[in-house]
Parts: sequence; C-alpha cells; structure tokens
Amino acid sequence: MATSDQPDTTIAELRRAVAAELRAAWGDDPAQSPQLDAKLIVAHALGRDPGGLVFHDKHPVDATNILAVRDLVRRRLAGEPVARLVGEREFWGLPFALGPDTLVPRPDSETVVAALLEALGRTGPRARPLRLLDLGTGSGCLLLAALSELPDAFGVGVDLAEGAVMVARSNAARLGLAARSAFVRGSWAESLSGRFDGILANPPYIESEAIDSLAIEVREHDPKLALDGGPDGLAPYRAMIPELPCLLAADGAAVFEIGMGQAGSVAAIAGAAGLNTFATNDLSGLPRALTMTLRN
Ligand SMILES: C[S@@+](CC[C@H](N)C(=O)[O-])C[C@H]1O[C@@H](n2cnc3c(N)ncnc32)[C@H](O)[C@@H]1O
Repeated sequence: MATSDQPDTTIAELRRAVAAELRAAWGDDPAQSPQLDAKLIVAHALGRDPGGLVFHDKHPVDATNILAVRDLVRRRLAGEPVARLVGEREFWGLPFALGPDTLVPRPDSETVVAALLEALGRTGPRARPLRLLDLGTGSGCLLLAALSELPDAFGVGVDLAEGAVMVARSNAARLGLAARSAFVRGSWAESLSGRFDGILANPPYIESEAIDSLAIEVREHDPKLALDGGPDGLAPYRAMIPELPCLLAADGAAVFEIGMGQAGSVAAIAGAAGLNTFATNDLSGLPRALTMTLRN
C-alpha cells in the first residue's frame, strides 16, 4: 500500500490502494471481489458502516488505522475470507454475526428462503401461526431471514455445534427476533417432536475427499462440520429426509439446499420417503433448492 507511508492519506486513497493491492494479487479471478473487500476492510478498521464510507471519502486516516488495515489485508491475502475478518456477513439484507462454528452464509442459500416463502404462500393462509424448523442452523441465517418475512411465525433452529447455537441466538436478539425463535443443540431432528409448516436445511453436502481441494477460504476457515457430507456428500440427506413425513404438517413444505449435481440423488431419497419434490434454480441457473411436500 504505497499511500500508507504518506501523511494525510484519505479514506478514498486508502480504499483504492487496498483494492489495487488485492487486484494485483488475484488478477482476474472471478471468485474474488477486490473493490468490495477493500471497502469492507477499510470500514471495519475505521469502525464505520461500509454503506456510509463514501460520505467520508475525504477524511484523513491516522497511522494506527493504516496499520490495522495493513494487518487485515495481510490476513485477507493469506486466504481468510473478508466475512471472517469483519466478523459478519449480510444475508437476505440482514447482518449476521459469525463465529468459528458457523459457516459464512452464501448468497445462493437465499434461494432456499425464497423457495420456502413461495411454498408457504401457495398453500394459503393458516388458522394458526406458522411453525418453522431449521436443521443445521449455523448463524441462523435461513430461519431468521424467513421469520423476518413471516411476522406471525415461530421458528426452532437446531445445530450440533454449541458455538453455532449461541451465535444464532445472539443474531436473533440483534434482529429483534428472539421472542419468535428458539435455538437448541442437537443432531438434526432427533430430539424434536411435533409438526412444522416449514422446514429448512442447508446440510453439509461436500464429499469428504473433495474438502481438501476447496478454495483456501472454505477449507481452512469454514468449520468441517458444516462442509462434510460423508463419502458421497449425501449422508445428511439420508439421515434427515426419511424423518420428514413425521415432522411436516399436512400442508407443510420442506426446502433443502442441494449441491451441484445432487438434485437427482436427493429427489430419489425424497421419493423413497414418499415425498413429492421440485427443484428451484439459483441465480446461476443451477438447481439449488429442493422443495418436498407430503403426498396426498
Ligand atoms: C452448510 S452449514 C449451514 C449453516 C446455515 N444454515 C447456513 O445456511 O449458512 C451446515 C450446518 O449443519 C450443522 N450440522 C452438521 N451436522 C449436524 C447434525 N448432525 N445435526 C445438526 N446440525 C448439524 C453444522 O454445524 C452447520 O452449522
């Protein structure tokens, strides 16, 4: 960062210098976003809201903040995702704090929330408040996004990782959704009873052997428990889907995220459990969410 040694470096100059440094390291890699990362890093180091950073572009940055930015850039170039550096990620337009036990929410997972809202809308208004369940809740992003759209709904989020349960709970509080949600530690639906109108899940679905070849941001910074779907990536689907007929309300819907190339296999598991299915594509046109309903 050439500007960092000059007096009176402004926020705009610092941001441009960080973006240039990241771009020089990453080249044209479409998986990277140097400008956005630069904005988030500089805003975080300065304790400012990234959205409002542009209004302070001409402000000078002091040496302590420049050192803090340098350190964050060093960590980013070593493969730490920007969401881990700043400790949160936006999902469904809402901020989600992260912890070592939570996956960084992915934009594609918004397809799961949209598919659930669509499925619930199609089955019409209910006589009672909706009950939602999120299996493998992580940061709570799927459940809390859905609850933010359904003011009469109550939701339960389950995760095997205690750290994830605690982060999800504090995200609910921050979003004003604590009174309509509960987060518990458990293995999938093992300790649950009752029926739910909407069930969400983004299970770990990476084949165990493929984890080592994932991008460094994922393989070294997302928790293994959030990634590893067993030898063929389908173990969590085999564990959860056969339980759905006992967990779904008669007119309810379950929507599970699926990985690339998994739509057919997961639909077959659902078919064997007596469920109807249809897939929803993500913004890249790939099947990303599988909706499952009880057969009449
Ligand atoms: C792919 S992450 C999804 C997290 C979050 N729902 C999201 O979309 O960002 C899968 C989650 O499942 C949790 N998990 C793994 N095995 C589990 C199990 N047997 N029971 C409950 N949760 C489990 C992991 O801890 C992780 O939080």
